[in-house]
Amino acid sequence: MKALVLESLHQALVYKEVDEPKVGKGEVLVRLKAASLNHRDVWISKGLYPGVQTPIILGSCASGITEEGRQVIIDPGFGWGDDPRFQSAFYHILGSPNAGVFAEKIAVPSANLVHKPVHLTYEEAAALPLAGLTAYRALMTKGRCKYGDKVLINGVGGGVALFACQFAIAQGAEVYVTSSSPEKIARAEALGAKGGISYRKENWGKALLKSTGGFDVIIDSAGGHGFKNLIDAAGMGGRIVFYGGTHGEINHINPQKVFWKQLQIMGSTMGTPEEFRDMVRFVEEHKIKPVVDEIFDLAQGNDAFEKMKAGKQFGKLVLKI
Ligand SMILES: NC(=O)c1ccc[n+]([C@@H]2O[C@H](COP(=O)([O-])OP(=O)(O)OC[C@H]3O[C@@H](n4cnc5c(N)ncnc54)[C@H](OP(=O)(O)O)[C@@H]3O)[C@@H](O)[C@H]2O)c1
Repeated sequence: MKALVLESLHQALVYKEVDEPKVGKGEVLVRLKAASLNHRDVWISKGLYPGVQTPIILGSCASGITEEGRQVIIDPGFGWGDDPRFQSAFYHILGSPNAGVFAEKIAVPSANLVHKPVHLTYEEAAALPLAGLTAYRALMTKGRCKYGDKVLINGVGGGVALFACQFAIAQGAEVYVTSSSPEKIARAEALGAKGGISYRKENWGKALLKSTGGFDVIIDSAGGHGFKNLIDAAGMGGRIVFYGGTHGEINHINPQKVFWKQLQIMGSTMGTPEEFRDMVRFVEEHKIKPVVDEIFDLAQGNDAFEKMKAGKQFGKLVLKI
């Protein structure tokens, strides 16, 4: 079969013939139809994840069809464990250390297969898994987002962030966003967000607090020195949930603001198999359409990587297989 292979770190991927996957006990062979990129794939290729072994087929998110004709989405998480609060020490995600989905076929445990909602194309369904799951746990489980909440999504151009935005709108929340780009704010407004502001503006958190009265739930993946704006923008009893740290250490936090507003600041990572099923059900119930920025052929995977590195996309970059 054909696959996109990272032969060594810091190199472009190579589209080449590889061995077919071996189907183990309890596993099902899936003919993959589409896969989507996450920032994780770029970072693995740059050697920014510990212990990456090459050669490796990257990719965590995909949709496809089984030999019996079931149209499926793959839950990319393995070995979460028994405690829904956190993953076990054995938890891992498709696409490193195990072979991923930028390939024509994969063998996965049948427990990791969930039916593809009928309102989604294979390309839209492939956009969902990792980003949708991360957004769902951060927003719904940790953020406890409910109808009528005021929700802020920081950096809405991110793959996870955009799902959080769509899920919060579907939940009936009043959603505001930040972005580096006025066009991306306008795109979020077209999806149903109430408004937005550039996170490049000085003291944007205080400005949002003044114009909105403060947020019940804030979703972030940037961290860094801009995090203080999230504390400013939070309303009384607000919940700030972050799942990424693109801008590094969080500093300059005023503890008085955190305890006076009775804030909860929580980290979140991926989600349980139950949350994956709940997320797909939520998408089906609300007929949510993942935003796909561009579809590339699997053989053109390097072009998709370059677009992600440049951060130009709004929505997911998808590979058609
Ligand atoms: N813990 C987990 O389970 C998990 C899962 C998935 C991802 N992550 C992490 O989450 C982060 C984002 O991942 P992703 O796949 O969504 O990446 P992505 O699609 O490339 O999103 C990155 C986005 O971050 C936003 N951003 C950049 N600088 C910012 C700033 N100073 N303030 C606010 N937002 C800023 C940008 O938004 P604009 O384009 O709107 O400017 C950009 O589009 C990464 O750190 C990734 O490792 C963690």
